[in-house]
Amino acid sequence: MLVALTEEHLAVRDAAREFAQKELLPGVIERDEHQKFPAEQIKKMAELGFMGMMTSPKYGGGGMDTVSYVLAMEEISKIDASASVCMSVNNSLVCWGLEKYANEEQKEKYLVPLAKGEKIGAFCLSEPEAGSDATQQHTTAIDMGDYYLLNGTKNWITNGNSASTYLVIAQTYPEKRHKGINCLIVERGMEGFVVGKKEDKLGIRGSDTHSLMFTDVKVPKKNRIGEDGFGFNFAMNTLNGGRIGIASQALGIASGAYELALAYSKQRKSFGKPISDHQAIAFKLADMATQIEAARLLCLQAAALKDAKQDFALKAAMAKLFASKVAMDTTIEAVQVHGGYGFVKEFHVERLMRDAKITQIYEGTSEIQKIVISRSILK
Ligand code: CAA
Repeated sequence: MLVALTEEHLAVRDAAREFAQKELLPGVIERDEHQKFPAEQIKKMAELGFMGMMTSPKYGGGGMDTVSYVLAMEEISKIDASASVCMSVNNSLVCWGLEKYANEEQKEKYLVPLAKGEKIGAFCLSEPEAGSDATQQHTTAIDMGDYYLLNGTKNWITNGNSASTYLVIAQTYPEKRHKGINCLIVERGMEGFVVGKKEDKLGIRGSDTHSLMFTDVKVPKKNRIGEDGFGFNFAMNTLNGGRIGIASQALGIASGAYELALAYSKQRKSFGKPISDHQAIAFKLADMATQIEAARLLCLQAAALKDAKQDFALKAAMAKLFASKVAMDTTIEAVQVHGGYGFVKEFHVERLMRDAKITQIYEGTSEIQKIVISRSILK
């Protein structure tokens, strides 16, 4: 599928680029160093409509397509992948999941403030013993009549402390395995819900990743999304879209590193000429540009399929698998192009290299993407 970008798409991309340069670039090194969540910047992103881009205006969103979202994610991620993961989780895991599967009452109460960016959402699937093997949920949601009694621990939760609304996956009927899992909307402040320790991470250090503890939390029955036992399918369907977001984040990290390496190579001289005139460097840049272009096409293709309401799970997994490898490879090479300067913080590429790694891990490791892809092509 070929994706033709419209004037509107290009305007969204330019707005995101301008915002990232003006508002995210200043302070990004300090936020990374001190693990500071970009709260003010996220507020401004909400004002510009980046936190609920794809949600219908009926529910407070921007009503844009997934292609626009990919373009905006790339630009934001070039500069600050910590801000972009917050944006990605809110847009594609939380708002999209609620718009697609929640009932009207839930949408009015929870989706509207999330899509406007007045509140931030978190998607809570991973557990200490359920990462890739997501059916093995130990968190339980016992049916108590008009409420569920929620107990358990969630790990690695993006927006863990900054969120107000949490979509929590939990097991109600263990004997039914994944058919017994539910997704509950949990509010910050519900009794028995505690935000645990903040993780001290290699990359995306500005994003707040926490464990969450639930002890006898009474979650009203009306907070369950979809039919009884729909929670695992909810998580899988939602993650398919999430993977487009993280693929675009990886694309942005790669293209951000490439742009820095390209600019540096033209001004840095060695052996009497700009290092870009040395084939050793020029070939690296050629490889980077080609890989990034291919990753961008995969991201846009997955987005366009989703916008056309076609099955996009396979292409989303391919985009994430490929773009995250491109992010890793490109950032390593960008550090190499910078030589010693690449190893220090002020040149940004070392941060991008650290940020790149998570794109091969969250929202399904590269190995999980290969499971999704191989099952699809072999079936
Ligand atoms: N799309 C839609 N449905 C899917 C699906 C997909 N990609 N993959 C599986 N399913 C459905 C299956 O159709 C099946 O449903 P039915 O029984 O109704 O037909 C159900 O899920 C179970 O499927 P499997 O039997 O194939 O389950 P499995 O255990 O063999 O494998 C898996 C499933 C694909 C490995 C899955 O566990 C998985 O995706 N794991 C990775 C989890 C993950 O991505 N975690 C990321 C955490 S969220 C995060 O990182 C957010 C953040 O903070 C940034």
